[in-house]
Amino acid sequence: MSACMTWCPHPPGCHCARTRLGAVASHGANKNGNGRDRNLDQITILPQPAALFPVENPQLIPARRYYDEAFFQAEAEHLWPHVWQMACRLEEIPEIGDYVEYKILTQSVIVVRTRSGVKAFHNACRHRGVRLVGGQGNCKTSGFICPFHGWRWNMEGENTFVFGRQIFDESVLAQAEINLVPARVETWGGCAFINFDDDAPALLDCIAPVAKVMDVRNVENMRVEWWTSTVLPTNWKLAMEAFMEGYHVMRTHPQLHEVTVHDGHEFGMDHAESSPGPKRHINGKEAVDVTVEHFRRLSDGMGGMIHANDVAIAEDVAASMEFAEDPRAAMGAWMQGVNAEITSRARARGIAMPDMNDLMVNHPASAVQFVFPHYFMLPMFGNMSSYRIRPLTPETCLFELWSLTLYPDNITGARPQPPEPVPHDSTSFPAIPQQDYSNLPLQQLGLHAKGFEHMRLSAKVEGLISNYQRLIDGYLQGLASEKLLTAMQSVNGPYDSPIQDLGF
Ligand code: FES
Ligand SMILES: [Fe+2]
Repeated sequence: MSACMTWCPHPPGCHCARTRLGAVASHGANKNGNGRDRNLDQITILPQPAALFPVENPQLIPARRYYDEAFFQAEAEHLWPHVWQMACRLEEIPEIGDYVEYKILTQSVIVVRTRSGVKAFHNACRHRGVRLVGGQGNCKTSGFICPFHGWRWNMEGENTFVFGRQIFDESVLAQAEINLVPARVETWGGCAFINFDDDAPALLDCIAPVAKVMDVRNVENMRVEWWTSTVLPTNWKLAMEAFMEGYHVMRTHPQLHEVTVHDGHEFGMDHAESSPGPKRHINGKEAVDVTVEHFRRLSDGMGGMIHANDVAIAEDVAASMEFAEDPRAAMGAWMQGVNAEITSRARARGIAMPDMNDLMVNHPASAVQFVFPHYFMLPMFGNMSSYRIRPLTPETCLFELWSLTLYPDNITGARPQPPEPVPHDSTSFPAIPQQDYSNLPLQQLGLHAKGFEHMRLSAKVEGLISNYQRLIDGYLQGLASEKLLTAMQSVNGPYDSPIQDLGF
């Protein structure tokens, strides 16, 4: 590391391109895989990523971060190889031997359920590099077979067959060299996460704040109801940021905003569009009725999240109550009744439903939970919507949306199939995602406008956008992993959060 330190300007523990190249030189490993000298002069040293459009004012996000080719490349080199990535839902690999492929940019990983747990391997034949599998399948009896010359591996990644072995020099067929190359994998929340960095902190250390609020919601046992995907003509970060604040609800989802109760007032936009806000003071019964309507519209608009049976319970409880005049008192009593009914009715159906009143009092959680860098969970009663957003090119991304729920213990759903992407303007998506998707292509276009240099953020409610963007800068600058971990623990968690000091 000392030789590295003279070469790299970053603190100990950094993993920037300079450190890695410096390590190659300093450790005397300047030879390629065949033992021949490699000319270090031929190595392209990437431009210092910190120079690329950093977030200097936490309230201003440079527009070029969303379309610049070099910035996208810097993320590919310095961010994605070092972060935990939600690679698949565990019900995609329910049986021994079930596998799925997870792709991120140029990389492809096989995630497989083995007899000794979930494992991951780089998806490349050890002979001449052919990508071994795509999509999903089961390798229990066949193993993985390369389609080019037929080499084989078992589910543990061990090479079991080299066709015409005698034509090779044994020196290139050492068992360890021809086994599949493992990738780190850890599981949490019903998902397998992969990380290409052997030195990255453990998954649970990174997501501790999220795990704390989601574990008590039994997220581990939620299962997929449906799963959709689309390709958005936007940078991946732009798509992410549409779910980092609720500020957009007023204009993007007016049907929800107008049935929102806050401080005893119903909200709406019919005073004047320029000043949406409290429409009128309402009594207890009206506050509950408005919120029941909110539940209905959220359920319809998301095609899940709040289920029809939850809405029916909300209606039943409202119909059976006498309400206090004070909206806060009425809402509190009604919510308690709804929570109790949802809990008891679900348990009667054999669902391991957490005590919703206990959660409301002792474990409150924001409506949106973010897991850096590209995964979201939106829990609601025994259900959840979740999003994963992957970069494809600087100005396109793959957006996936799952609806999940807790099923009765005796019901196991079918193995979910990765969906074919549907056009982003398809009316087949539920209304609320349609509304979210509709703004994003326009935003991507607007970012290119001459004179538009940076977004401006609310420090109070759009802070998550600033926080995670500055965490990305931490990766691009090759900061020490302890610093990144501390920052990640404050970034992972609720949306609508304020701008925070990340310690760098
Ligand atoms: S490339 Fe896979 S067996 Fe030859
Ligand atoms: Fe939205």
